[in-house]
Amino acid sequence: MAERKHDQSLRIRTVGMREWRNGTVCYHRYEATPYKALDRLFQVYKLNKSDKVVDFGCGRGRVPFYIHHRFQIPVTGIEVHDKTYEEALQNKASYRQQAKHIHAPIRLKYGLAEHYEVKGTDNTFYFFNPFAIEIFRQVVRNILRSAEEEPRTIDIILYYPVAEYKQFLQMHTSFQLIHRVTVPGATHKKEKFLIYRLKHNRIT
Ligand SMILES: C[S@@+](CC[C@H](N)C(=O)[O-])C[C@H]1O[C@@H](n2cnc3c(N)ncnc32)[C@H](O)[C@@H]1O
Repeated sequence: MAERKHDQSLRIRTVGMREWRNGTVCYHRYEATPYKALDRLFQVYKLNKSDKVVDFGCGRGRVPFYIHHRFQIPVTGIEVHDKTYEEALQNKASYRQQAKHIHAPIRLKYGLAEHYEVKGTDNTFYFFNPFAIEIFRQVVRNILRSAEEEPRTIDIILYYPVAEYKQFLQMHTSFQLIHRVTVPGATHKKEKFLIYRLKHNRIT
Protein backbone atom coordinates (compact mmCIF):
# COMPACT_ATOMS: atom_id res chain seq x y z
CA MET A 1 0.00 0.00 0.00
CA ALA A 2 2.83 2.36 0.90
CA GLU A 3 4.29 1.59 -2.52
CA ARG A 4 1.14 2.76 -4.30
CA LYS A 5 0.95 5.90 -2.17
CA HIS A 6 4.50 6.79 -3.03
CA ASP A 7 3.76 6.15 -6.70
CA GLN A 8 0.76 8.48 -6.44
CA SER A 9 2.87 11.24 -4.93
CA LEU A 10 5.11 11.06 -8.01
CA ARG A 11 2.11 10.50 -10.31
CA ILE A 12 3.53 7.29 -11.69
CA ARG A 13 2.57 3.59 -11.79
CA THR A 14 5.42 1.25 -11.10
CA VAL A 15 4.00 -1.38 -8.73
CA GLY A 16 3.91 -5.03 -9.84
CA MET A 17 6.01 -7.54 -11.72
CA ARG A 18 6.34 -8.61 -15.32
CA GLU A 19 7.98 -11.78 -16.50
CA TRP A 20 9.36 -12.13 -20.00
CA ARG A 21 6.89 -14.13 -22.15
CA ASN A 22 9.52 -16.32 -23.78
CA GLY A 23 11.16 -16.99 -20.41
CA THR A 24 14.54 -15.53 -21.36
CA VAL A 25 17.25 -16.40 -18.87
CA CYS A 26 19.54 -13.52 -19.83
CA TYR A 27 17.05 -10.70 -19.31
CA HIS A 28 15.41 -10.68 -15.91
CA ARG A 29 11.82 -9.79 -15.00
CA TYR A 30 10.51 -6.37 -14.08
CA GLU A 31 10.12 -5.54 -10.44
CA ALA A 32 10.83 -2.11 -8.94
CA THR A 33 13.25 -1.35 -6.14
CA PRO A 34 11.07 -0.84 -3.02
CA TYR A 35 10.62 2.80 -2.02
CA LYS A 36 11.65 2.06 1.54
CA ALA A 37 14.97 0.75 0.17
CA LEU A 38 15.47 3.91 -1.93
CA ASP A 39 14.62 6.08 1.09
CA ARG A 40 17.23 4.26 3.14
CA LEU A 41 19.88 4.35 0.40
CA PHE A 42 19.63 8.11 0.02
CA GLN A 43 19.71 8.74 3.75
CA VAL A 44 23.22 7.36 3.64
CA TYR A 45 24.43 8.01 0.11
CA LYS A 46 24.03 11.48 -1.35
CA LEU A 47 23.99 12.58 -4.96
CA ASN A 48 25.41 15.96 -5.95
CA LYS A 49 24.18 18.52 -8.46
CA SER A 50 26.92 17.49 -10.90
CA ASP A 51 25.98 13.78 -10.86
CA LYS A 52 24.29 12.04 -13.77
CA VAL A 53 22.60 8.74 -13.08
CA VAL A 54 21.90 5.87 -15.48
CA ASP A 55 19.53 3.05 -14.47
CA PHE A 56 20.33 -0.02 -16.60
CA GLY A 57 17.02 -1.86 -16.98
CA CYS A 58 14.87 0.94 -15.61
CA GLY A 59 11.55 -0.84 -16.00
CA ARG A 60 8.67 1.61 -15.52
CA GLY A 61 11.14 4.22 -14.32
CA ARG A 62 10.69 4.33 -10.57
CA VAL A 63 14.39 4.88 -9.80
CA PRO A 64 14.98 7.66 -12.37
CA PHE A 65 11.81 9.53 -11.32
CA TYR A 66 12.57 9.16 -7.63
CA ILE A 67 16.12 10.47 -8.06
CA HIS A 68 15.04 13.28 -10.37
CA HIS A 69 12.41 14.39 -7.89
CA ARG A 70 14.65 14.14 -4.85
CA PHE A 71 17.95 15.51 -6.23
CA GLN A 72 16.84 17.44 -9.33
CA ILE A 73 19.67 16.03 -11.44
CA PRO A 74 19.76 14.49 -14.94
CA VAL A 75 18.69 10.86 -15.11
CA THR A 76 18.66 8.26 -17.86
CA GLY A 77 16.75 4.99 -17.92
CA ILE A 78 17.29 2.20 -20.42
CA GLU A 79 14.69 -0.50 -20.94
CA VAL A 80 14.32 -3.18 -23.59
CA HIS A 81 10.87 -4.61 -22.85
CA ASP A 82 8.63 -2.73 -25.27
CA LYS A 83 5.46 -2.69 -23.15
CA THR A 84 7.36 -1.80 -20.00
CA TYR A 85 9.16 0.96 -21.90
CA GLU A 86 5.80 2.35 -23.11
CA GLU A 87 4.63 2.44 -19.49
CA ALA A 88 7.79 4.30 -18.49
CA LEU A 89 7.03 6.91 -21.17
CA GLN A 90 3.47 7.28 -19.86
CA ASN A 91 4.89 7.72 -16.38
CA LYS A 92 7.25 10.38 -17.64
CA ALA A 93 4.40 12.37 -19.19
CA SER A 94 2.38 12.16 -15.99
CA TYR A 95 5.36 12.83 -13.66
CA ARG A 96 6.40 15.85 -15.73
CA GLN A 97 2.99 17.48 -15.15
CA GLN A 98 3.95 18.09 -11.54
CA ALA A 99 7.70 18.48 -12.01
CA LYS A 100 7.78 21.22 -14.62
CA HIS A 101 9.93 23.35 -12.36
CA ILE A 102 12.76 20.79 -12.34
CA HIS A 103 14.86 21.60 -15.36
CA ALA A 104 17.19 18.60 -15.27
CA PRO A 105 16.43 16.23 -18.17
CA ILE A 106 14.87 12.78 -17.88
CA ARG A 107 15.94 10.53 -20.74
CA LEU A 108 14.25 7.19 -21.29
CA LYS A 109 15.83 5.07 -23.98
CA TYR A 110 14.43 1.97 -25.58
CA GLY A 111 17.11 -0.62 -26.21
CA LEU A 112 19.65 -2.98 -24.78
CA ALA A 113 21.71 -1.84 -21.83
CA GLU A 114 24.77 -3.46 -23.42
CA HIS A 115 24.33 -1.21 -26.48
CA TYR A 116 24.03 2.02 -24.52
CA GLU A 117 26.82 4.43 -25.38
CA VAL A 118 28.05 5.65 -22.00
CA LYS A 119 28.34 9.45 -22.01
CA GLY A 120 31.47 11.16 -20.73
CA THR A 121 29.36 12.87 -18.08
CA ASP A 122 27.45 9.80 -16.80
CA ASN A 123 29.00 8.95 -13.44
CA THR A 124 26.53 6.91 -11.35
CA PHE A 125 25.19 3.60 -12.61
CA TYR A 126 22.32 1.73 -11.00
CA PHE A 127 21.57 -1.98 -11.34
CA PHE A 128 18.76 -3.94 -9.71
CA ASN A 129 19.84 -7.34 -10.93
CA PRO A 130 18.55 -6.66 -14.46
CA PHE A 131 20.37 -9.32 -16.49
CA ALA A 132 22.81 -12.21 -16.62
CA ILE A 133 26.45 -11.78 -15.66
CA GLU A 134 27.66 -11.88 -19.31
CA ILE A 135 25.64 -8.74 -20.01
CA PHE A 136 26.73 -7.06 -16.80
CA ARG A 137 30.37 -7.65 -17.80
CA GLN A 138 29.75 -6.05 -21.18
CA VAL A 139 28.03 -3.03 -19.62
CA VAL A 140 30.87 -2.56 -17.10
CA ARG A 141 33.42 -2.80 -19.94
CA ASN A 142 31.53 -0.02 -21.72
CA ILE A 143 31.66 2.06 -18.53
CA LEU A 144 35.39 1.45 -18.17
CA ARG A 145 36.06 2.38 -21.79
CA SER A 146 34.20 5.63 -21.25
CA ALA A 147 36.24 6.24 -18.07
CA GLU A 148 39.46 5.79 -20.06
CA GLU A 149 38.32 8.31 -22.64
CA GLU A 150 36.96 10.79 -20.07
CA PRO A 151 38.68 10.09 -16.74
CA ARG A 152 36.33 10.68 -13.79
CA THR A 153 35.18 9.11 -10.55
CA ILE A 154 32.40 6.60 -11.15
CA ASP A 155 30.00 4.84 -8.78
CA ILE A 156 28.13 1.60 -9.40
CA ILE A 157 25.14 0.92 -7.16
CA LEU A 158 23.92 -2.66 -6.91
CA TYR A 159 20.57 -3.41 -5.33
CA TYR A 160 19.90 -7.04 -4.38
CA PRO A 161 23.47 -7.88 -5.39
CA VAL A 162 24.19 -11.32 -6.78
CA ALA A 163 27.49 -13.10 -6.19
CA GLU A 164 28.56 -13.06 -9.85
CA TYR A 165 28.28 -9.26 -10.10
CA LYS A 166 30.23 -8.78 -6.88
CA GLN A 167 32.95 -11.23 -7.87
CA PHE A 168 33.38 -9.65 -11.27
CA LEU A 169 33.74 -6.12 -9.88
CA GLN A 170 36.09 -7.24 -7.12
CA MET A 171 38.30 -9.60 -9.13
CA HIS A 172 38.35 -8.09 -12.61
CA THR A 173 38.07 -4.33 -12.16
CA SER A 174 39.49 -1.56 -9.98
CA PHE A 175 36.09 -0.73 -8.50
CA GLN A 176 36.24 -0.77 -4.71
CA LEU A 177 33.39 -1.34 -2.31
CA ILE A 178 32.76 1.94 -0.46
CA HIS A 179 29.33 1.43 1.15
CA ARG A 180 27.05 -1.37 2.23
CA VAL A 181 23.54 -0.09 2.97
CA THR A 182 21.05 -2.44 4.59
CA VAL A 183 17.30 -1.94 4.42
CA PRO A 184 15.36 -1.81 7.71
CA GLY A 185 12.99 -4.76 8.11
CA ALA A 186 14.64 -6.70 5.29
CA THR A 187 13.63 -10.36 5.22
CA HIS A 188 16.33 -11.52 2.80
CA LYS A 189 20.05 -10.87 3.17
CA LYS A 190 20.26 -9.72 -0.46
CA GLU A 191 17.91 -6.81 0.30
CA LYS A 192 20.72 -4.28 0.51
CA PHE A 193 22.81 -1.96 -1.62
CA LEU A 194 26.48 -2.28 -2.40
CA ILE A 195 28.17 0.80 -3.77
CA TYR A 196 31.43 0.47 -5.66
CA ARG A 197 33.65 3.35 -6.64
CA LEU A 198 36.23 3.74 -9.37
CA LYS A 199 38.49 6.61 -8.37
CA HIS A 200 39.58 9.02 -11.05
CA ASN A 201 43.20 7.80 -11.10
CA ARG A 202 42.47 4.02 -10.90
CA ILE A 203 41.10 3.08 -14.27
CA THR A 204 41.75 -0.44 -15.65
C1 LIG B 1 14.52 -6.03 -11.69
S1 LIG B 1 13.92 -4.85 -12.89
C2 LIG B 1 14.59 -3.34 -12.21
C3 LIG B 1 13.77 -2.10 -12.52
C4 LIG B 1 14.35 -0.79 -12.00
N1 LIG B 1 15.78 -0.66 -12.27
C5 LIG B 1 14.13 -0.61 -10.53
O1 LIG B 1 15.07 -0.87 -9.77
O2 LIG B 1 13.05 -0.20 -10.10
C6 LIG B 1 14.99 -5.22 -14.28
C7 LIG B 1 14.57 -4.58 -15.60
O3 LIG B 1 15.63 -4.74 -16.55
C8 LIG B 1 15.07 -4.92 -17.85
N2 LIG B 1 16.11 -5.55 -18.69
C9 LIG B 1 16.51 -6.84 -18.65
N3 LIG B 1 17.52 -7.03 -19.53
C10 LIG B 1 17.76 -5.83 -20.14
C11 LIG B 1 18.70 -5.38 -21.13
N4 LIG B 1 19.60 -6.20 -21.66
N5 LIG B 1 18.67 -4.09 -21.49
C12 LIG B 1 17.76 -3.23 -20.95
N6 LIG B 1 16.85 -3.60 -20.02
C13 LIG B 1 16.86 -4.88 -19.60
C14 LIG B 1 13.84 -5.80 -17.57
O4 LIG B 1 12.91 -5.74 -18.63
C15 LIG B 1 13.33 -5.18 -16.27
O5 LIG B 1 12.39 -4.16 -16.53
